[in-house]
Formats: sequence, structure tokens, C-alpha cells
Amino acid sequence: MTNADFEKLVDTSDEWIVSRTGIRERRIAADDMTSADMAMEAARRAMDMAGCTHEDIDLIISGTVTPDYRLPSNSCVMQEKMGFPNAVAFDVVAACAGFINGMSIADSYISSGAHRRALVIGTEKLSYFTNYKDRNTCVLFGDGAGAVVLEPCDSGSGVLSTFMKSNGSMRSWLWSKVGGSRNPYMADFAFDGSDKIQMAGSEIFKVAVKEMSNAAATVIKDAGISSDDVSLFVPHQANIRIVEAMAKRLHLGMDRVFLNIHKYGNTSSASVPLALDEANREGRIKPGDYVVMVAFGGGLIWGSALVKW
Ligand code: ACO
Repeated sequence: MTNADFEKLVDTSDEWIVSRTGIRERRIAADDMTSADMAMEAARRAMDMAGCTHEDIDLIISGTVTPDYRLPSNSCVMQEKMGFPNAVAFDVVAACAGFINGMSIADSYISSGAHRRALVIGTEKLSYFTNYKDRNTCVLFGDGAGAVVLEPCDSGSGVLSTFMKSNGSMRSWLWSKVGGSRNPYMADFAFDGSDKIQMAGSEIFKVAVKEMSNAAATVIKDAGISSDDVSLFVPHQANIRIVEAMAKRLHLGMDRVFLNIHKYGNTSSASVPLALDEANREGRIKPGDYVVMVAFGGGLIWGSALVKW
């Protein structure tokens, strides 16, 4: 869906969207394609790249706020459809930070020896959750999925440090008020957008810049390296101005920051793995490189992970 498509839906313009967000296009899944369907495609490609089989995977974690069902988890839907006989499967609900939180959990489980090989996914069908009458939010979001396989590796490489934090007092800055047990759907529910994404964008903007910078700085410090050592930053693609402000706070040139927001918009938990995959396939990441991933989302919740590739 292009910015021109949105000009026909709401009072907006290509100029406003590009200058305020950096977004030019987003991908919208077909009606019959769900977040679990996209996750399975991403999982297949990650497993092909890793050269592993379904039997090898013993942990599946999906970050998503748009699962196929309220119950069971998307990860269990995938397990049933793809067949992972040796795995435990569950979802994490951490909005845009879901993939990084999933990586952090998988890293802990693998480091402890409890699990051997994890499939970590970020997948979202935000288009079903977006109010296409609200210009403040609808131009921002898109659909997508990305996945990685994590397994033990030589010490000194792999996931070196992770960081996660949240602050629930700002939960109503980015939420969907209706549809849970607090405010269930009523038979006579009149659409006012409260069952879709509602966001206090400019308030979130400031916290996102500060906390994404702090999270990235924390994983760099915890790994005992400096930000000059980092070859590539792979941030959550919510808004190009947030990413630029974060880079400024970290004294980073944008040449070390990966961006693909212009093509996909904000895909919540899918954003970081989509960017990581594109960066890798474009040859932007080489063995031995330090890569920092960082994300921020509804909760509010944020996190970062530093990997030696
Ligand atoms: N087209 C034209 N005008 C618009 C549009 C639009 N699509 N959307 C908003 N405007 C208007 C507003 O109505 C407002 O008009 P007013 O001054 O007459 O009231 C004006 O533009 C400015 O609005 P602001 O909110 O101040 O614009 P801002 O510069 O903050 O940009 C944005 C808005 C893009 C939402 C930005 O605040 C942002 O990116 N925030 C952070 C989003 C984020 O990171 N969310 C967390 C992750 S998402 C997740 O977890 C699922």
C-alpha cells in the first residue's frame, strides 16, 4: 500500500508521511493470510539458511500482538501445522519489542543448557488491527514476519548481551482498549476505533528516543566493547526521525544504521528480524561483526541485543 493509496482514504499527503515518518510503502497481507502463515514462511526460510530440520528445533518463541487466535498461541499453531515433535512453543506479547524479548529468553534457555536450538519469530498482521479512518495511525503500520534460528556456538561469539525493560504506567499511550476481559465486545458495539490501535504518537516519540538509546548503550557496555566497535545498528523501524535522533544521541553516523522503513512501515515485532535479514542478505553483516538490535513498543516496553555475527 503506497502513500498515494492513503491519500484516497484519509486527509494526508505523501509529503507529510515521508517527511514525518520516512515511510513510502507497506506490505498488506491477503485476507486469507494470517500472522501464523507469514511466520511459517519466515521459519522455513530461516531453517533452510541454518540447515536444520523440524526435529532439531526444541524451542519456538513468537513475538506477536496479532495472533491467529486468542487461544492457543501462534507458536502452537505453527507447531501443529509444520510439525516440531521435540519443541515447546509459546508466544511473547511485547509489541514491537517481542522479537528481541524472544531472543533474550531463547538466549537464556540455550545458555543454561535447558534447550539446544530455538526458532525465534516476530510476526504481525497489523492491517487487521489498524483503524483505516484514523490518519494518526493508519499510515504507519504494515504486515510482515521474520525469523532466526539460535543454537550454541563458540564462546566469544553469538548473543553477547541483552537488555529488557518496561514501564506499564504509560500503557494507554499505545493500546487497544476494547476486546479483552476488561472491556469485552458487546453485541451492540458501535465502531469508534477503540478496538483498534490507538496511539499518543508524540508522547511515545520522546520516550522511544531516550530508551532505545539507553538500551543500546547498555548492551554495548555489558559486552565490554565501545559503540565504535559496532558495525551495524538494526533498530525497530517505527519512524525515521526516531532512528536519526537515537543515532545522534549515540554519536553514530547513519551509515552504520540499517533502514528499510520506506518499504515496510512499522511491522511491530517483525520489524527487527525483517531488517536483520535484509541487512544480512545485502552483505551488510560479515562474520565477526558486532551488531546491535534495539526495539521499543506498546507496554511501554523496550529491549536490545548485541550479537557477534
Ligand atoms: N497526515 C497528515 N497530518 C497528520 C497525519 C497524517 N497521516 N497524522 C497526524 N497528522 C497531523 C496531526 O493531526 C497534527 O495536526 P494538528 O497539529 O493540527 O493537531 C500534526 O499532524 C502533528 O501531529 P504530531 O503528532 O505532533 O506529529 P509527529 O511529528 O509527532 O508525528 C508520529 C506523528 C509519526 C505518529 C510520531 O509521533 C511517531 O512516530 N511516534 C512514535 C510511534 C512509535 O514509535 N510507536 C511505538 C511503536 S508501535 C507498536 O508498538 C505497535
